[in-house]
Amino acid sequence: MKKTNLLKIARMLVMFITVISLSNCNETQNNNEDKNIDTTSVKQEVKKTREELIVNRDTMHIANTDSITSFENKHTPEITVGNADEKGFSKIIVKVGSNDIVHPSTDEHWIDFMTLYIDGKEFKHIENEAGEGSNQHEFLAKVKAGQELKVIIGCNLHGIWENTIIVK
Ligand SMILES: [Fe+2]
Repeated sequence: MKKTNLLKIARMLVMFITVISLSNCNETQNNNEDKNIDTTSVKQEVKKTREELIVNRDTMHIANTDSITSFENKHTPEITVGNADEKGFSKIIVKVGSNDIVHPSTDEHWIDFMTLYIDGKEFKHIENEAGEGSNQHEFLAKVKAGQELKVIIGCNLHGIWENTIIVK
């Protein structure tokens, strides 16, 4: 075989290999883009589902404090304050609900948010995804006797509820 023919074949091989490499590169890039699109659309879907499941934003109250119903107990956040640690922080435990009645925490029925206010100022706001252990949270804060702790919670099905205590 002539040298010129060998060179032609070698050039064609190099071109062929280059074209194959470039096409693999593009496929990898496209796969990564597809993955990004998938992740974003899954997140959007989760958010949409959460918003669709939160169907009640009515402000709710205990109708008669002399005879609180189990439904009202189930949605009233119970606030307890632990002793201060050596740095002055107390554990504030919030459970929904009260008087040994526990609010559900399932994919269909859960506490979608919880906000703690100290002396009227927002201290912490938590948003829960469906299905989490949403009915109890602990907060660490420096509080002293006489301060007002208010917790507002949202049940995705039964509206917005609150409770207030004064630190002893
Ligand atoms: Fe509920």
